[in-house]
Amino acid sequence: MTTLRLSDGIINDEILVVGLSYKKSLKDSKANLVIESGDIALDTKKLLQSLADMGATGKCDEVVKIPGLTTRLLVFTGLGEKKPSVDDEVLRRAAGAAARTLAGNSSATFSLPAKEISTLEAIAQGVLLGSYLFSQFRVDSAVAHQPSLKAATIHSNLASKVEAKDAIKRAVIIGEYTNLVRDLINTPPSHLNPDSFCKEFTALVKKAGGASAGLKVTVMNEAQLKSKGYGGITAVGQGSANPPRLLQISYTPIKVKAKKSYAFVGKGITFDSGGLALKPAVGMEAMKCDMSGAAAVCAATIAIALMKLPIAIDCYAPLAENMISDNATRPSDIITMYGGKTIEVLNPDAEGRLVLGDALVKAQENKKLDGIIDVATLTGAQVIALGTRTSAIMTNNQDFSDQFFAITKSVGEAFWPMPLPVELRASLDSPVADMANVGERMGNMMVAGLFLKEFIAPELPWLHLDIAGPAYNQGEPYGYTPVGGTGIALRSLVALAQSAAIS
Ligand code: BES
Ligand code: MN
Ligand code: ZN
Repeated sequence: MTTLRLSDGIINDEILVVGLSYKKSLKDSKANLVIESGDIALDTKKLLQSLADMGATGKCDEVVKIPGLTTRLLVFTGLGEKKPSVDDEVLRRAAGAAARTLAGNSSATFSLPAKEISTLEAIAQGVLLGSYLFSQFRVDSAVAHQPSLKAATIHSNLASKVEAKDAIKRAVIIGEYTNLVRDLINTPPSHLNPDSFCKEFTALVKKAGGASAGLKVTVMNEAQLKSKGYGGITAVGQGSANPPRLLQISYTPIKVKAKKSYAFVGKGITFDSGGLALKPAVGMEAMKCDMSGAAAVCAATIAIALMKLPIAIDCYAPLAENMISDNATRPSDIITMYGGKTIEVLNPDAEGRLVLGDALVKAQENKKLDGIIDVATLTGAQVIALGTRTSAIMTNNQDFSDQFFAITKSVGEAFWPMPLPVELRASLDSPVADMANVGERMGNMMVAGLFLKEFIAPELPWLHLDIAGPAYNQGEPYGYTPVGGTGIALRSLVALAQSAAIS
């Protein structure tokens, strides 16, 4: 990952990144460019001329590079329409877009408008997230691909404050763990399966300090899952040569009483072929992203521990590979979930809700929780409803949902509340078992949410986050979002713990 420094001194970098916005005037149809170089003064007159000559617009996601006067390269990153105070997410994206175009360079200084510590933090996050590249599997082709920007200095007059240093430390944790989630999503199922996922996180927990950081890992293997009655995880995993797991990472704050206690549950399908309801070949490769929820919740739990937040987290990742074999679950099979509910599996491609159901029940066992959140690439219908960049929030508790929705906005993650209409629930009735795993096709995202709701104690505040589209970017990179795994949901989960810690 890019190494971050903080400075309020003179710029001695070869590359300087500043902001560029535009002002619309009523008289003049041509927008006027405005250079926003934070706490350093630039002689802007000539620069503005050059930028106008080059056709720069200052729009978001535009990055324009020109030879500098005192630095080798001046990089202008678009901030959009000029505002008295720039939105943190606009700066996060602008820093990210610039960092992405600086691959191959050894260092750059970013000087963007930041009056608040939180803005500085957003810029730092943008740099770390935007410079991300996934090159683990390049050998011969590595030479043709530049490595990420090596080091970045964030320039600000706030640099000497302890609060600024703390903000950078937090940004480094968010950057590191978001990029880890992205790596795991991008890693193909040939190299990431339920067992290796557990091994990876066991090592990560150890690296984060293990018990001395308040962290504990527990892994259940296929034999234990089967004997203890985890029928959902077992049924989904039984068609694969790579057997299922249930990974648990718990964080208990050290030496302080936890102010709140949350459970996180993440869908961990390391590959979703659809099982006997085999998915079409075209596009199936994207289903390596079906463990995005699991990666996000596990990484968020470690990040929360590293920030030493006084919040207890019980994190569960039900892991399985949804495959085909003579042992795969058949349409019409009836399974018994953890806790005893029977499910008629009408469609083995609706597997996420089966592994989640088991884990949700387990997460509520013998626990006094303040809330439970599941994160899942659950339905194609999510993408149809909200597109590829906005995730859904479903809930049984409006206050919890409202609070979380505000948090997602504050960290620049796009979520939107969706209902759980009661009338859709009957479509999940089965003629032979307690419930079927699929129901009414219309409103499928909400039907899936209603299925999960059956596994939640009615009085426990619960959020279901469907991240099917936003978890994996199959289009062009933008802002700080790369192609492939995005790491969505991690920032919001960490921010929920931060917000609970100060309330
Ligand atoms: N993993 C998929 C959902 C998905 C789709 C994630 C697109 C990311 C991008 C899930 O397991 C699935 O297959 N869902 C089915 C459910 C249906 C069979 C009821 C779907 O949404 O089509
Ligand atoms: Mn599926
Ligand atoms: Zn799936």
